[in-house]
Amino acid sequence: MSRAWNELLMDDHQATERVFDAMEKAFDRPQGPAPAMVADMMRYFAIYLDGCHHKKEENWLFPRMAERGIPMHGGPLAVMIGEHEQNRAILQRMQPLADAFVAGDASVLEALKGVFHEYIGLLKDHFWKENDILYPMALRVFDAADARHVIDGIAQEEAKLTQGTRADWYAVAEGIARAGDVRNLSFNLDHAVLGALLDTLPIELSFVDQDDTVRYFSHEAHDKIFPRSRAVIGRKVQDCHPAGSVHLVNRILADFKAGQRQVAEFWIDMGPRKVHIRYFPVRDPEGRYLGCLETVQDIAPIQALTGQRRLLTEA
Ligand SMILES: [Fe+2]
Ligand SMILES: [Fe+2]
Repeated sequence: MSRAWNELLMDDHQATERVFDAMEKAFDRPQGPAPAMVADMMRYFAIYLDGCHHKKEENWLFPRMAERGIPMHGGPLAVMIGEHEQNRAILQRMQPLADAFVAGDASVLEALKGVFHEYIGLLKDHFWKENDILYPMALRVFDAADARHVIDGIAQEEAKLTQGTRADWYAVAEGIARAGDVRNLSFNLDHAVLGALLDTLPIELSFVDQDDTVRYFSHEAHDKIFPRSRAVIGRKVQDCHPAGSVHLVNRILADFKAGQRQVAEFWIDMGPRKVHIRYFPVRDPEGRYLGCLETVQDIAPIQALTGQRRLLTEA
């Protein structure tokens, strides 16, 4: 059975709400959404939501409701039209920020996130009003011919789309929703398991974030090659190194941030140990710098290996 006009319009709302959810999650991450997600979101908002969905209502539903006695001015229709206009104004403010973000300017992230929340805050409320109040109001005054008129109008607006079909735009919305849900497999691990796993590595780890603040070290309850206490957490890494080596730390971090180095390594003798110290830039899947990982490993037992062992020995 073909869908009723109100179901068709609510399908648009539902597809859009999935975009909102995925983008909200993505904006909650410290590094924000992937630029490609933002680009798709803006195209979806501008071309499909504003350029097509709102037009189905403005050009077909609202005028027909007015003809059936619901006042165009001073009533719910005026509120809906006013909200579409507010929406367009917010979208216009969002566009240059989104363009800058997509072009690689991460400094606009907070401003973009603010405008995004303004946009979805207004629209979530708007969709709710339409679904629960305005459409039922129209259903009460429409006859079958009115319903047919709005369905035809919906098809006409979709035929005017300069890019894609409704199905294409739903696929874009679905792609954004999926991108927002895709998470690293470590999200399936409980924190306690992840912590125990890191402490089981035969390598000691420390991590400083993108602002050079120490955030983590492993093997807290174990004997460590370089003992550390919790007091370092939250301190700048530059304050945790002897003054003589701070220039080296800064050089490594600057190279990592600029994408000019993939590793910095050192090895030193400490009694019987050969301590291998390596620094790696940590990046997200889009290549953005998240911080620096230090690994410390006693490689003397590895260097001493000769020949082969292919059988399990006694524990
Ligand atoms: Fe609307
Ligand atoms: Fe709507």
